[in-house]
Amino acid sequence: MTARLRTIAGVVLFVYVTTHLLNHSLGLVSLASMEAGRDWFLALWRNPAGSFALYGSLAAHAGLAFWALYRRRDFRLSTGETVRILLGLAVIPLLAGHFVGTRAAHQEYGIHDSYTYVLLVHWRADRSNIVIQTAALASAWIHGCIGLHLWLRFKPWYRRALPVLYALAIVVPVCAYLGYVVAGREVLALARDPEWLRATVAGFNLPDPAGVARLERLVNGIYVTSVMAIVFVLLARFVRSVWERRRGIVRVAYPGGRTVAFPHGRSILEVSRLAGIPHASVCGGRGRCSTCRVRIVRGSDRLPEPSPAERRVLDRVGAPRNVRLACQTRPIADLEIIPLIAPQVASVGHANARSPRLEGEEREIAILFADLRDFTRFSERKLPYDVVFVLNRYFANMGSAVEQAGGHLDKFIGDGVMALFGIDRPLDQGCRQALEAARAMARNLADMNRALAADLDTPLRMGIGIHAGAAIIGEMGYGTAVHITAIGDSVNTASRLETLTKEYRAQLVVSEDVARHAGVDLAAYPSHDIEIRGRSEMVRVRVVAEAEALPLGAV
Ligand code: FES
Repeated sequence: MTARLRTIAGVVLFVYVTTHLLNHSLGLVSLASMEAGRDWFLALWRNPAGSFALYGSLAAHAGLAFWALYRRRDFRLSTGETVRILLGLAVIPLLAGHFVGTRAAHQEYGIHDSYTYVLLVHWRADRSNIVIQTAALASAWIHGCIGLHLWLRFKPWYRRALPVLYALAIVVPVCAYLGYVVAGREVLALARDPEWLRATVAGFNLPDPAGVARLERLVNGIYVTSVMAIVFVLLARFVRSVWERRRGIVRVAYPGGRTVAFPHGRSILEVSRLAGIPHASVCGGRGRCSTCRVRIVRGSDRLPEPSPAERRVLDRVGAPRNVRLACQTRPIADLEIIPLIAPQVASVGHANARSPRLEGEEREIAILFADLRDFTRFSERKLPYDVVFVLNRYFANMGSAVEQAGGHLDKFIGDGVMALFGIDRPLDQGCRQALEAARAMARNLADMNRALAADLDTPLRMGIGIHAGAAIIGEMGYGTAVHITAIGDSVNTASRLETLTKEYRAQLVVSEDVARHAGVDLAAYPSHDIEIRGRSEMVRVRVVAEAEALPLGAV
């Protein structure tokens, strides 16, 4: 909840900074355009509602950021996060002088804080303001851009929007700076006329020396408050760590016999990180991805109950009661755990420092599961050599069907196949490819049955399930067994659809979502609404008796 509030407040502030920079850009046209744009800017932000949104967001964002700094147990941060935090801490003192000299001075003394006033102060009275103001706006902008990136990077559309967002991230501040420079030169040119200068300065309604001194004290007060806030957070962290040590030590036992002792108050993921134990954490510990989940082997009865947010994520993956999210669980007594998702050896849980594909990214993809029917019975009646021969032939046929359709062969599990479509292309195309692969797989199986008719008592049969939706894709595994795979709700759903082919005695069960994205009309096939464990809504599926008969033109 606090993270969400901080994000909302951050977005409001980012909108404020963006509108401010756009206003600066009008300086490229003329000083008069800048002043006219400022009227709109003030209409937006200097009314009771706009002021409330601005000051409220500033207080909430800064307060919650300090709170997050206090709560954070370790400072092993990615470069992006480090830069974001440092710039965030720098913004308030950097902007203090500008804020007091404009908005506060306007409110206290009725100063007419127009662009002309600000530009004269910066470009004529004291040029150090140019450096400070440029640093302040650059800090605020980069801090906001990194914050938005960290917030949005798992959204399925984000990668597609990246080129536009990158362009805006550069064009907006550059235009603003150029506007500031061009307008500054225009003001300097105007100021060469003493008459203009005298009349203009008189119109600013500047405060008397006592007022100026008071404003200066306000600026100093902001500096001191900023420093004190940081010192206070550091002190609070120190007091907490002393207190936690006094409260006692908790031990977490990992597979392989390693036990880590740590003071109360840390999450299991933080303990793994501090102890250097590799622990999957695709979302970086934000309680979103479920990859950090652990089975509690011993001590689950003394764990605090999961929060509603943690429970939601656990329900989504159908986790049993003894499974918890390591990033959200703070043990208060000894316990023994087994991490359930193998981490990439090199990651040590620091997803942010790695490439998106390695760390995992959320994308919308189509997932296909296929499985041979009654293969166990077949293998019981055959020599191992025959079983291996048939299986290898089956894998070759299914693998080529997937690859020729443009999919990514994820893995063979026993006699089953998992394939992903749309990893590097739009979802619609991925769905079409998945249907094409299903048709080719059915065709290849039929060919195989014909070729092996003499060796098979009964033809081989298969079931295929296809679903589409958001999944986390990343390189997972251990040692040499690392490969790109997908996890998440949609993967579980696709697997469930494959098992439903037995119940419906059909070769393919495909969700309506896939058909819709692929642009295929499957209305001729029977439909069912099915319930999937951990999902609140039903999933509508189409049951296709023979995948080879899927409409040709459609895919
Ligand atoms: S690290 Fe993603 S939910 Fe825990």
